[in-house]
Amino acid sequence: MKNPYLQLQTSAWYELAESGWQGLKNSNHGDLPHWLESIDSLPEGDGYHQLDRDAPELGRPVADPALLRRELLNLHPWRKGPLKLGGVKIDTEWRSDWKWNRLKPHLDLKNHKILDIGCGNGYFGLRMLAAGAQLVVGIDPTMVFVMQWLAMRKLGPGLNNFVLPLGIEDLPSDTPGFDSVFSMGVLYHRRKPVEHLVQLKNLTRPGGQIILETLILEGESKAILNPSGRYARMRNVHAIPDLLVLHYWLEQAGLSNTKVLDVSKTSLDEQRRTDWMTFESLRECLDIENPSITIEGHPAPTRAALLIQVDE
Ligand SMILES: C[S@@+](CC[C@H](N)C(=O)[O-])C[C@H]1O[C@@H](n2cnc3c(N)ncnc32)[C@H](O)[C@@H]1O
Repeated sequence: MKNPYLQLQTSAWYELAESGWQGLKNSNHGDLPHWLESIDSLPEGDGYHQLDRDAPELGRPVADPALLRRELLNLHPWRKGPLKLGGVKIDTEWRSDWKWNRLKPHLDLKNHKILDIGCGNGYFGLRMLAAGAQLVVGIDPTMVFVMQWLAMRKLGPGLNNFVLPLGIEDLPSDTPGFDSVFSMGVLYHRRKPVEHLVQLKNLTRPGGQIILETLILEGESKAILNPSGRYARMRNVHAIPDLLVLHYWLEQAGLSNTKVLDVSKTSLDEQRRTDWMTFESLRECLDIENPSITIEGHPAPTRAALLIQVDE
């Protein structure tokens, strides 16, 4: 495969692109050959794209949409979207457009160079470009999401939106700072949340901004949930704080200029099983008789989004 990160060669993040490329080449994921075969079979787009919409479009409608649909379904599960690829509508598990539309009115991303940590298939990167960003570098270690980005890039080439197969722990400490750093849906998966927040600060240029989105507990009684087993069937959920605790963590990380943009309960319409994500989804993770709690008996998911200014 041709290096999909060549466009990044002139940027300050060339080293990162290089380690992304090595990550792809060295991956020994068992599904990789058949994923790459599907991506190879996709038609190469002519650069047509329409990004400023809830379901960004990449590539013009193809002659055989049923065939394209089959190839794209080989890259299941499609979690973040919706998307329209080669004219095929992808109804993803998440209505990620709802999350974006809650954030969008509060964000100025004009000409920003952005890092999106845990970016999934790069859906939000497309929305960031539509909002005026100059470059979006996303990182996500889950290989199938990187494959979805490769498929999106084949149908809609040339965009300054990249997904690198890296985890946050792979970023060198001398990574040049970005104008905006997004961490959405990642903090609760980190064992040391304050360390994650310090890392976000170090990855942001002085005077830049962090957009943090994470699970919280409702109320402000200095509460924190440390699930001993799973949370909503998810493994690796280490800590869910209320907003008071979250602010305390942020202060410990040296981040005091913060604004809560939104607090929303995740609804069964926002995260659900579809033809493009046939595994269990939120409905199967909540108590059937009492959907305000998870099947483990914890409060059902509520998420907060915060805008954090980093000192000059
Ligand atoms: C809950 S999803 C959130 C996706 C997206 N940011 C959103 O808000 O919808 C968490 C994402 O983080 C990724 N992830 C897991 N471990 C990671 C790590 N160590 N570094 C960066 N991302 C990671 C997962 O693959 C997954 O795509």
